[in-house]
Amino acid sequence: MKTLAVMTAGGDAPGMNSCLRAVVRTGLNNGLKVIAVHHAYKGLVEGAFMEMSARDVGGIIQRGGTCLQSGRFPEFVDARHQKAAIRQLKSAQVDGLVVIGGEGSMNGALALHRLRFPVIGVPASIDNDIYGTQMAIGVDTALNTIMEAIDKLRDTASSHRRAFIIETMGRECGFLALISGIIGGAEMILIPEKEADPKEVAEAISDAHARGKTHAIVVVAEGSDLHASALMQKLNKLKTGFDFRLTILGHIQRGGRPTAFDRLLATRFGVAAVEQLLAGKSGLMVGLEGREIVTVPLSKVCTKKRRANLEYYRLARMLAK
Ligand code: F6P
Repeated sequence: MKTLAVMTAGGDAPGMNSCLRAVVRTGLNNGLKVIAVHHAYKGLVEGAFMEMSARDVGGIIQRGGTCLQSGRFPEFVDARHQKAAIRQLKSAQVDGLVVIGGEGSMNGALALHRLRFPVIGVPASIDNDIYGTQMAIGVDTALNTIMEAIDKLRDTASSHRRAFIIETMGRECGFLALISGIIGGAEMILIPEKEADPKEVAEAISDAHARGKTHAIVVVAEGSDLHASALMQKLNKLKTGFDFRLTILGHIQRGGRPTAFDRLLATRFGVAAVEQLLAGKSGLMVGLEGREIVTVPLSKVCTKKRRANLEYYRLARMLAK
């Protein structure tokens, strides 16, 4: 292998830059030429390539977002785009590609592998919905952002004896809501993996009020079957003792400096991805299992779903007393 390409795709995640730096420098240290693909899969099809030096990734380990720009390109399911991407890679004499991204990006990587182009995936998505890794790049930073927001909202909630509904990201997976709800001490957590009942929420909140709590926090994942604003309207009509306010955290959760955990994870993933390509491997995603970096076939990653562990839900309900 002489030339390596790297790209970031899908929703950005804090730590993507740390991973990019690791990929570029591992490649250069192994005597490879390294090419960055700008604008994700669209840029791959259009040949938006730029050769990288060690200096080009200097000073980015701590920066959120992605220097390469990201984006979604659902059209990539079309085999014509996949073949055009391979033509672009071959004309730039690239012999291996690292794709840093979420579930959709891993599907694109699998398609390239099936067309016999060597590719390794690196999981990066704040939702933590990618099968084959306990943690994806960006999850820890997003959790810390949400935790800080919950702490702040609790200060104002208890000053007015109010309740807050806080909406987190997570279209299909409730991991962010569930874990931030536990570490933020939420009274109630609503996630896509569990049917939501507004009456049960109202009961939990009025119980909290009766027990003398000065605040109540309800964390709702954006993909929950009860939308946060509809829930607030319902709860304000029921008598819970609290007056509700709503905060939608939105894309704040995607930005910011990666935490120590994310920088290290991203760095280890980046190094491992290049080493896999150097060892002649393809069609794999690197992942975290316990403390070890492992590899999982992309064919498995793309057919299985990772969802929030409901054992955490039980724990959260028990502790919200
Ligand atoms: O990165 C994942 C995610 O944050 C989802 O939780 C969310 O629904 C989605 O991306 C929103 O992304 P965008 O605004 O980029 O389409």
